[in-house]
Amino acid sequence: MPEASAIYPGSFDPITNGHVDIIRRGLRVFDRIVIAVLKNPKKTPLFTTKERVNMIQEIFARDKRVEVRAFDGLLVDFARASRTRVVIRGLRAISDFEYEFQMALMNRNLAPDIETFFMMPNVDYSFLSSEMVREVAGLGGSVEGLVPELVVRRLKDKVRKSAKVQNP
Ligand code: PNS
Repeated sequence: MPEASAIYPGSFDPITNGHVDIIRRGLRVFDRIVIAVLKNPKKTPLFTTKERVNMIQEIFARDKRVEVRAFDGLLVDFARASRTRVVIRGLRAISDFEYEFQMALMNRNLAPDIETFFMMPNVDYSFLSSEMVREVAGLGGSVEGLVPELVVRRLKDKVRKSAKVQNP
């Protein structure tokens, strides 16, 4: 049987346990998942592209089925270049639906051969977002259990460094 692969795109600034949960669920369905890290999110990211890619690579270092790559330009072009016809997106709540629906249909308009698969994360992560994690960590709150341990450490380093810049 040919290998079934999918792309899981996002900003991952930073990757959360909700993303990790979707990737693990995706691996029950697909043989290989390419995690596609957007190089230029609209807002200035907290973590550089290299930092975001490296963190995800470290988290999945032992799983050969997971590949992590940075991309820019159109997602559908990246999907085609990666020989993948499935895009995975996580849906946490109804509030995600409108944006995701628009994006999926725009991608279909651009590339009718590419399908979007929606997956729901564990309900424990339905309130979780990278944005919320950045805000809480930036204000000194705990994000233990919401992001992988490695990300907890990297967030603490970031907060420490930015405090030093502000109060040298
Ligand atoms: O984690 P995010 O920020 O919600 O992910 C959004 C992402 C990266 C999937 C989306 O912004 C994207 O695909 N960007 C690439 C540009 C593109 O293809 N745009 C057309 C589809 S809307």
